[in-house]
Amino acid sequence: MIIKSAEFITSAVQPAHYPPPDHPEIAFAGRSNVGKSSLINTLVRRKRLVKTSSTPGRTQLINFFLINGDLMLVDLPGYGYAKVPAAVRKQWGPMVETYVARRTSLKGAVVLVDARRRPEVEELNLIDWLRQHRVAVVPVLTKADKLSKTELIKQRRAAAQALDMAEEALILFSAKSRLGKEALWQRLEGILAH
Ligand code: GTP
Ligand code: MG
Repeated sequence: MIIKSAEFITSAVQPAHYPPPDHPEIAFAGRSNVGKSSLINTLVRRKRLVKTSSTPGRTQLINFFLINGDLMLVDLPGYGYAKVPAAVRKQWGPMVETYVARRTSLKGAVVLVDARRRPEVEELNLIDWLRQHRVAVVPVLTKADKLSKTELIKQRRAAAQALDMAEEALILFSAKSRLGKEALWQRLEGILAH
């Protein structure tokens, strides 16, 4: 994918504030601090299109970015961070569930898991949820640069087992080394072509 333009469109919490569903859309979901915003920046080759932070729970709104005037990328708020106020944490489920259920232009969702961890019940639920709404799921193991090659292979095998997916389905990704960037674009282009 050649990136000619990447622009922030808007932030929203509820459907009334989403931009019109005029472009195919790909969403990015995962725990707080897993690297969603960094991954989007890497994909579109912009250092600071999407704000990243070493403080988990930074992104608490649904943020829409338009790429090349015809593809929407959506940075979803992270979940599972204990220090986020309870009221905000409670909002997460309904906010994302509504988005997935109502967003007619949503074609695919990239589900990020830290390569050093195992997918947990939140990831399994999220994937079920996406499938129920016929949204294609792309699982990605992030921060791959933090592990040795041997450890990565081991972690990918374990994650694939936990998700009940083929190992090759899981993309190893690093915002630092840009590992997996092309593989991820290829997968997304496949989804968008359908
Ligand atoms: P929230 O918006 O809070 O949910 O976080 P996020 O998932 O958007 O994570 P973000 O991209 O802000 O990254 C969180 C931290 O992890 C930052 O300090 C990043 O620099 C770091 N980080 C993200 N991706 C990578 C990666 O691939 N490798 C390494 N080493 N660090 C990363
Ligand atoms: Mg973020």
